[in-house]
Amino acid sequence: MSPFHLTRTLPEDATDAALRADVLHGLTRNPKTLPPKWFYDARGSALFEQITELPEYYPTRAERQILIARAAEIAEVTGARTLVELGSGSSDKTRHLLDELPDLHTYVPVDVSESALTQAGQALLAERPGLNVHALIADFTNGLALPDTPGPRLVAFLGGTIGNLLPAERAGFLASVRSLLAPGDALLLGTDLVKDESVLVAAYDDAAGVTAEFNKNVLAVVNRELGADFDPADFAHVALWDRGSEWIEMRLRALQPLTVKIPALDLAVDFERGEEMRTEVSAKFRKDGVSAELAAARLELTRWWTDTAGRFALSLSVAR
Ligand code: AVJ
Repeated sequence: MSPFHLTRTLPEDATDAALRADVLHGLTRNPKTLPPKWFYDARGSALFEQITELPEYYPTRAERQILIARAAEIAEVTGARTLVELGSGSSDKTRHLLDELPDLHTYVPVDVSESALTQAGQALLAERPGLNVHALIADFTNGLALPDTPGPRLVAFLGGTIGNLLPAERAGFLASVRSLLAPGDALLLGTDLVKDESVLVAAYDDAAGVTAEFNKNVLAVVNRELGADFDPADFAHVALWDRGSEWIEMRLRALQPLTVKIPALDLAVDFERGEEMRTEVSAKFRKDGVSAELAAARLELTRWWTDTAGRFALSLSVAR
């Protein structure tokens, strides 16, 4: 039996249907929105990798520092025999954790990208021949079913990606994660923290303009997948801090009045000059808020670690 399994829980055409629904819904409401999950085609994923190396974008480095410092403790506290990683991408940071989990039976990376899963899975198996890798092609925000593997389970959701969900979506997401866990199983969660506005805004509006390219890439995705005629040059990148909601918003601002045609939806969309379309929310957290959101999902916060500069937190919570 091969130690690498790939299970598709998403029908082949589900992604296309979801994009159509999101674009139709988001561009016919006021204010207009596009969900951030559509940034990540091959070019968007490569741009995100570049973002993680920018001097202004600290979250990836901060989280890696914490993981390296705490991997042994995470292994000891959880005793995990199954590690599930939601939004695993390249599984790059997870290696620090895998290296400290000698008793791990199965690694379950979950991602919407089949190519990322296959690449990461093969690379891991080359390093850890004894490990079982059961990759799931799935949208983790919609009801997941996990393979039957030995516990205890540890579910990891890293990178601060939970910040891309709105508060009500986070509550639903945490409840569905909890439903995957038995009492005593754990969640390892990465959350970016509230900090000085100038530091936050710079992280989402870097001097080299990589985040601007990343933001505009969603227009290229809609053009390619739905035949739209967005011209990225018609839009400016906007990153702002919403101090009431404590989140960063990325937007695309129309530089002139425009009409965009989207043939696959039989739709024409008008933009006024200066109109802003929201493309991402990236919420920033405080310990009390994280603890309360976890508790509402019957998860008890048991460890809270930050990087030395206190910019980012990794927390461990246990299912009750
Ligand atoms: C990968 C979702 C955590 O919100 O910081 C980076 C994506 N957006 N720069 C984030 C992102 C703009 C990132 N996450």
